[in-house]
Amino acid sequence: MMRTRPLKVALLGCGVVGSEVARIMTTHAADLAARIGAPVELAGVAVRRPDRVREGIDPALVTTDATALVKRGDIDVVVEVIGGIEPARSLITTAFEYGASVVSANKALLAQDGAALHAAAEDHDADLYYEAAVAGAIPLIRPLRESLAGDKVNRVLGIVNGTTNFILDKMDSTGAGYQEALDEATALGYAEADPTADVEGFDAAAKAAILAGIAFHTRVRLDDVHREGMTEVTAADFAAAKRIGCTIKLLAICERAADGGSVTARVHPAMIPLTHPLASVRGAYNAVFVESDAAGQLMFYGPGAGGSPTASAVLGDLVAVCRNRLNGATGPGESAYAALPVSPMGDVVTRYHISLDVADKPGVLAQVATVFAEHGVSIDTVRQQGRQEGDGEASLVVVTHRASDAALGGTVEALRKLDTVRGVASIMRVEGE
Ligand code: HSE
Repeated sequence: MMRTRPLKVALLGCGVVGSEVARIMTTHAADLAARIGAPVELAGVAVRRPDRVREGIDPALVTTDATALVKRGDIDVVVEVIGGIEPARSLITTAFEYGASVVSANKALLAQDGAALHAAAEDHDADLYYEAAVAGAIPLIRPLRESLAGDKVNRVLGIVNGTTNFILDKMDSTGAGYQEALDEATALGYAEADPTADVEGFDAAAKAAILAGIAFHTRVRLDDVHREGMTEVTAADFAAAKRIGCTIKLLAICERAADGGSVTARVHPAMIPLTHPLASVRGAYNAVFVESDAAGQLMFYGPGAGGSPTASAVLGDLVAVCRNRLNGATGPGESAYAALPVSPMGDVVTRYHISLDVADKPGVLAQVATVFAEHGVSIDTVRQQGRQEGDGEASLVVVTHRASDAALGGTVEALRKLDTVRGVASIMRVEGE
């Protein structure tokens, strides 16, 4: 039975994503109504610049007073696509107080204040859904939270930032340096004028916090995520990666420790074997590889940004939240019952590829190997390459077995103190094996 009284939606933000949400709500109105069991009506659109022409949106719905819109009292669902911490946080909290559920695409806010916002939603018997906050159109939050609710997730390994994947893919396929590839990403509109949030890994770290929290039923905040950007990756790193059958990706990695007693979350560039499914994720696409006890390995792949793909995820949430509302129910809220400690980066165990510039003379290899041994880091392969004929220097490339980040850090510190080690050219983790 179709209810005739519509569910009222307030849209906060009408930029690239918001305008697509409004467009799809209009063009797919009949299908959305049939799927929900009641029509959905756009009751108001809060914007910063009211004079801008917004095709397909009744100007009478447009307001600059977002607070008044969420306080109207007749709004069923607030869709927040403004981004950033404030005023989004206050508006969402107010929306709950005034009886609305919320659909948000705001990764930064969820990564920072997810627990408080979930608590506010629960206090008011409302829903807080945010599929669009992580990897755009790709269904991830709901599969982790609902489809895998009976399984035990051990690892989430993802490419969750399209801009950096575009840049790294360009460097890989053309031999370009970082700046050249970034310039192309900017010219094509993938990178923002200020690319810091993407290239320094902040965007991916927020997404890692959200994914880790859901995957491990544990509160993981942005501050818990170890973060390294990808601005230092060079064409030489790609050449080195190729020599060991790898490419380089900026990865978000959320892991349960081997003993199950703690978790880690981190974002950094890493070498990954060309045989791993994530290695073939090209251009600005995103993909997330999930490993769980019963399901084994799963991969979720698709467009991680853009107006229409992100709106697809928002609309999916909108339908779910509206259905819950009609049923007088709420969907799953925060699940943090496991409350596992989040370990520091030093506890992470992985493999490393280290390039050293060393003196090319007897005993140097033995000296270097001794430093690794003294720190309990086992060497898998060593390759030495003479450089210019007769300059007395060589490049030494060491790939280790699995070791803790703390042990590797100690090793590198000691290597730097050796007279025969002229420099540590690069250190990169090797993942996905
Ligand atoms: N800037 C992000 C990216 C999209 O490049 O993937 C929004 O999170």
